[in-house]
Amino acid sequence: MSSVPAVTSPRLDVEAVRRDFPILSRVTDSGRPLVYLDSGATAQKPNCVIDKLAEVFREYNSNVHRGVHALGDRVTGAMEGSREGIRRMLNAPEVEEVIFTGGCTLAINTVAHGWGRKFLQAGDEIVLTEMEHHANLVPWQMVAREKGAKIRFIPQTSDGRLDLDQLDSVLNSRTRLVAVTGMSNVLGTINPVGTIAARVKQYGAVVLVDAAQSVPHGSVDVQGLGIDFLAFSGHKLYGPTGIGVLWGRRALLEAMDPFLGGGNMISRVWGDRFECGAIPAKFEAGTPPIAEAIGLGTAVEYIESLGWDAIAAWEHQLTSHAHARLGQIEGLRIMGPGIEHRGSIVTFTVDGLQATDLATVLDTRGIAVRAGHHCTMPLHDRLGITASTRASLAFYNTPGEIDLLCEGIEHARKLLMRKRRS
Ligand SMILES: Cc1ncc(COP(=O)(O)O)c(C=O)c1O
Repeated sequence: MSSVPAVTSPRLDVEAVRRDFPILSRVTDSGRPLVYLDSGATAQKPNCVIDKLAEVFREYNSNVHRGVHALGDRVTGAMEGSREGIRRMLNAPEVEEVIFTGGCTLAINTVAHGWGRKFLQAGDEIVLTEMEHHANLVPWQMVAREKGAKIRFIPQTSDGRLDLDQLDSVLNSRTRLVAVTGMSNVLGTINPVGTIAARVKQYGAVVLVDAAQSVPHGSVDVQGLGIDFLAFSGHKLYGPTGIGVLWGRRALLEAMDPFLGGGNMISRVWGDRFECGAIPAKFEAGTPPIAEAIGLGTAVEYIESLGWDAIAAWEHQLTSHAHARLGQIEGLRIMGPGIEHRGSIVTFTVDGLQATDLATVLDTRGIAVRAGHHCTMPLHDRLGITASTRASLAFYNTPGEIDLLCEGIEHARKLLMRKRRS
C-alpha cells in the first residue's frame, strides 16, 4: 500500500483473466466492444462471484447465526469462512475484528459515530487530507460539528502528494484521529500510510485508513502499517455491492459504541436498556448482506489465486502506458503525481472540453469512464476546476484499451471543436 512495485514483466495472463469476467466480452449499444475504464467506481465481477451468489440463493439461503437447522449452519459457516478469508487478506490479528458493513461509507460512519461521538471533545482535532472522498470527510464534519472538534488538513504538494515535511505542523497534543485515504480516487496518489501512522502514533492519536481504492490493487498488512481502523467496499474489490468491511483493533472496537441498534448486536435487552453483544456482532445490527458477504470471500480467493504481486505489476505497466499515452495528447493535463507515486487511476482535464461531454462521446465508442467531481468537491475547488474525467484501471484491462481511450479523446476533441466552430 505504501510503495509502488517496480515494473516487472507481467505474470498475469490477461486474456485468460478477461474470460473470467463475462461482461468484458459484451458488445455495447454502440456496436463496439465494452472498454471498461471505471473500476474505481465499481469493479466488474468474475464468474466465480456471480456463481457463488446464485449458489447461496439456490442451495442454502437462510438467515445466519439463528438457525437451528442445517441450512442455517451452512450459510453461517460460509459467511464466517469469508470473514476469516478477509482477516487473512488484511493480516488482521483476530477474525472478530473484521466487521461486515454495507460498504466503505458505512464503515467510516461506524467509526465517526461510534468512536467519535464517544471519545471526541470540544477543542479536539481531527486530521484529514484534502484529497479525501466525501465518505471520509462528511462523517467527520458531522461529528466535529456535534462535538465542537476542529478539522485540519495535511498540506499537499503541487503535484498532489501529501507534504509530510509539514505533517508536524498539523499534528499536536489535541490531535485525536487522523483519517487518510490509502489511494486517492482522483489523483491516484498512493499515500505512505505506514509512515504517516508511525508519526501520528507519537501524538497518541488513532489512525483510520480509507482503503476503498487501495485494497483492490495490492496486498495490505494492517499490523505492519501500524494503523487502527481500515475501511473498504466489496464492490470495488470484484465482489458484490452492499457489502463492505471495517477492520479495527479489538480494544478500540470494544471501547466504542455501536452505531446501529437492533437484533444480533445485543447480549441482553430489557424494557429500558440493552447490553451490547461481543464484536463483531456489536456492529452488525440486523440481518447482514449474507450472500454478498460470502461472495466477497469468493472474490478475495479469486484475487489471491491470481497473486497480488502479479496484479500490482500488471497494473503498474498499464498505468505507465496510460500516463505516457495520455500525456501526449494536446491540451490534456493529468492530475496528480508522477508514475512512481500513483496507483491505477488517471484523471485528467482536456483544454476546451467539458468532462461530461468527453465522457458522453467516449461512451458512443463503448468506452466507460467517469466524469464529474468524483465525490471530491474540496479537491476540485482547490484545483480550481468543477469536473474532471477519470480512467480507473483494473488487472483485466489491456494496453490496447488505453490506446482506444486515447483515440476516443482525440476524436472527441476534433468533434467538439468542430461543433463549437459551426
Ligand atoms: C476513496 C473512496 N472512499 C470511499 C468511497 C465510498 O465507497 P462506497 O460508496 O462503496 O461506500 C469511495 C467510492 O468511490 C472512494 O473512492
